[in-house]
Amino acid sequence: MDRLSTEVAGVRFRNPFLLASGIWGETGAALARAHRDGAGGVVTKSIGSATREGYPNPTVEQLGSWGLLNAMGLPNPGMEHYAAEIALARKEGATVVGSIFGGDAKEFATLARAMEQTGVVALELNLSCPHAKGYGSEIGRDPAIVTEVVRAVKQAVRLPVWAKLTPNTHDIGALAEAAEQAGADAISAINTVRGLAIDPETMRPVLAHGFGGLSGPAIKPIGLACVWQIYDRVKVPIVGIGGISTPEDAFEYLIAGASAVEVGTALSAGGDALFGTLSAGLERLLEHHGFSTLAEAVGASHRVR
Ligand SMILES: Cc1cc2nc3c(=O)[nH]c(=O)nc-3n(C[C@H](O)[C@H](O)[C@H](O)COP(=O)(O)O)c2cc1C
Repeated sequence: MDRLSTEVAGVRFRNPFLLASGIWGETGAALARAHRDGAGGVVTKSIGSATREGYPNPTVEQLGSWGLLNAMGLPNPGMEHYAAEIALARKEGATVVGSIFGGDAKEFATLARAMEQTGVVALELNLSCPHAKGYGSEIGRDPAIVTEVVRAVKQAVRLPVWAKLTPNTHDIGALAEAAEQAGADAISAINTVRGLAIDPETMRPVLAHGFGGLSGPAIKPIGLACVWQIYDRVKVPIVGIGGISTPEDAFEYLIAGASAVEVGTALSAGGDALFGTLSAGLERLLEHHGFSTLAEAVGASHRVR
């Protein structure tokens, strides 16, 4: 078996580098392109029940070398229109994970059923977007609501369910435990970290929405700490996300406890070649440390404490 291939809750990916939700994921062509560029799998943009335009511009601000601040407002074509995009990506051979967002357990369950029909290999529940009123972290930072949503989705579908959690809470471990107890098959961590940029000239927030979500290099230590903590609290596999741009970043996430990782912001700079560079570099790191499979590396830093 290839050293880089990995399994998350019964689903095998050819390598651990997945395209993160919301990055290039709005069209099937873009998902297919990430697959051609070497992604191990691709996560769709978070899809809701109806077409949503999102917030007015500006929705994204580059914060120097720290990363990006965004408040897109979950723009998406709606489930009914999006199925064709997934079909296109699957036709090109991509292993597709379907991301969904809803305002309550019932809406999540309905969307999950529709997403299951598209042939995705797993569902990722967006319980963590930090800037959409009534959605994401507004509901996902309450363990009781996480339990309710995950339970409803698990009753509605047979697919593996990944709960994507927010770092904007005092105890992400409690959210992970709630998700696991409700039947989640994996935990994805993290979504963006709530942040703000103010223009000193106009004295107004830079993004039209005000608060946004920070992603990129600045959040890597936060994501890593969350994965470390979650690994200590649950048994289900973890998908690590946040600030990954080098093979070393990914290796740190794996030895902290992740079985796969998602890459987002780095792709805006790294472009097409990044997935190949990450895989080649990780292969070398695994070999250097004497791991003959990726699974042996998962959580390894906990065992050398
Ligand atoms: C422009 C943009 C749009 C995003 N859209 C979504 C989304 O629709 N659903 C979701 O779960 N996460 C979304 N995210 C969060 C990413 O999937 C990821 O969790 C986060 O950016 C941290 O990873 P990174 O530092 O590699 O970018 C978005 C991030 C960015 C920058």
